[in-house]
Amino acid sequence: THLISENQPLSCWPMEWFRVENNIHKQDVLLNEHIQPGSSLKKALAGDSQRLLDIILHSGLRGRGGAGFDTGRKWQLCREAEGKAHYVVCNADEGEPGTFKDRVLLQSYADALFEGMALCAYVIGARKGFVYLRGEYRYLLNHLQNILKRRYEQSLLGPSILGKAEFSFDIEIVVGAGAYICGEESALIESMEGRPGIPRIRPPFPVTHGYLGQPTAVNNVETLIAAAYVAYHGSDWFKAMGTEQSTGSKILSVSGDCRTPGIYEYTYGISVQQVLSDCGAKNAQAVQIGGPAGALVAKKDFSRQISFEDLSTGGSFLIFGAHRDLLSVNQNFARFFAHESCGFCTPCRVGTRLLESSFQKIADGRATRQDIQEIKQLSALVRRYSHCGLGHTAANHILDGLKDFSDIFEEKLVQTPFTPSINLDAALE
Ligand code: NAI
Ligand code: SF4
Repeated sequence: THLISENQPLSCWPMEWFRVENNIHKQDVLLNEHIQPGSSLKKALAGDSQRLLDIILHSGLRGRGGAGFDTGRKWQLCREAEGKAHYVVCNADEGEPGTFKDRVLLQSYADALFEGMALCAYVIGARKGFVYLRGEYRYLLNHLQNILKRRYEQSLLGPSILGKAEFSFDIEIVVGAGAYICGEESALIESMEGRPGIPRIRPPFPVTHGYLGQPTAVNNVETLIAAAYVAYHGSDWFKAMGTEQSTGSKILSVSGDCRTPGIYEYTYGISVQQVLSDCGAKNAQAVQIGGPAGALVAKKDFSRQISFEDLSTGGSFLIFGAHRDLLSVNQNFARFFAHESCGFCTPCRVGTRLLESSFQKIADGRATRQDIQEIKQLSALVRRYSHCGLGHTAANHILDGLKDFSDIFEEKLVQTPFTPSINLDAALE
């Protein structure tokens, strides 16, 4: 058990939730088995890189960071892109509030991660890879470097991997400095190149214009680990699990009002209710799935499923018991986005600050219906006109809250007749 407050200066959930668990409570697929170091690579290197790519493509593996882009397709695009050099980047900047499963994977499954990176390198033709490690996870650096050292000694990294003369690959670890925005892949690349973490305009995507402007495959920790398991067990094994569009499993970081917070792995398609039952959450009124940028799921929707077809998540599963003040939770989320906005574009820099102060107004009992109307309009504006994913998703929690939990806003309002002021709706058309 770690106290997150030691390494996370700003958080957006109640103080007592700073305590999160490393305990693994459910291990269905990846967490159930430690594949021997080198075993996936041996199988993969017995064939050519096209064969490995076909296996990944056929498995249906999709990005576990939250967006769910087809992994095989990403590797294929990167492999086909022209450049002086190709790069593999592992996004280990796990910043989604409430997510801590990559930390556990880095701690206990790093061999599989480095194996996945080497497999990616084999497919795309990279000789160099980077792990971009979240600044707050610096304490894992020695542990990771020790595993890298052993893998070099085992010829699982370095020149002529496992005796294959034409395949050489090195991995370097780069430590971030604690900015949430650096989890956005192009900001991460900017940071790796020594500049402030400001997201680039995409497209072009990193598969063609990534690190140093060269073709780069950026994948999340869990995705690369899953790729190692796919290479070892085969695509049919992977495809047989989950749902049609979400094959395999998802690892969840479960925290909040439940008896056993920690890590849970399920094949895709599991219902929210089942996760709540398994972790002993008897009295939940809502679950925030996918962090503040994700979806606030109300009790009436607990039959919904964790999958790309329904509720997609980078891994966080925050449970709010019936006694929680959801307005203050929302206010904390708004504060989080205002704090983490990189400030590059006006809709997000100013919009998130205005949303934060609107919440303060509601909490202070000074807001009217007109403020709610303006919050809705401002949320839509921030969502539509921001430059990157942070701004696009910063108001999700507000719009979800207003839709399913309008009471929590209503009861704090000053009861005055509604008179619209500025009309932002026009700007959004
Ligand atoms: P995105 O959908 O723009 O891209 C996803 C991936 O697919 C990227 O690697 C991108 O380069 C690639 N891609 C997309 N279209 C492509 C194309 N046409 N050609 C080649 N490559 C393409 O999503 P984004 O903005 O990268 O990530 C947003 C997600 O990240 C959200 O789902 C959010 O929930 C999640 N997130 C996860 C966090 C975590 O700690 N894991 C933290 C914050 C957000
Ligand atoms: Fe920065 Fe926010 Fe604009 Fe993204 S949307 S570039 S985080 S200011």
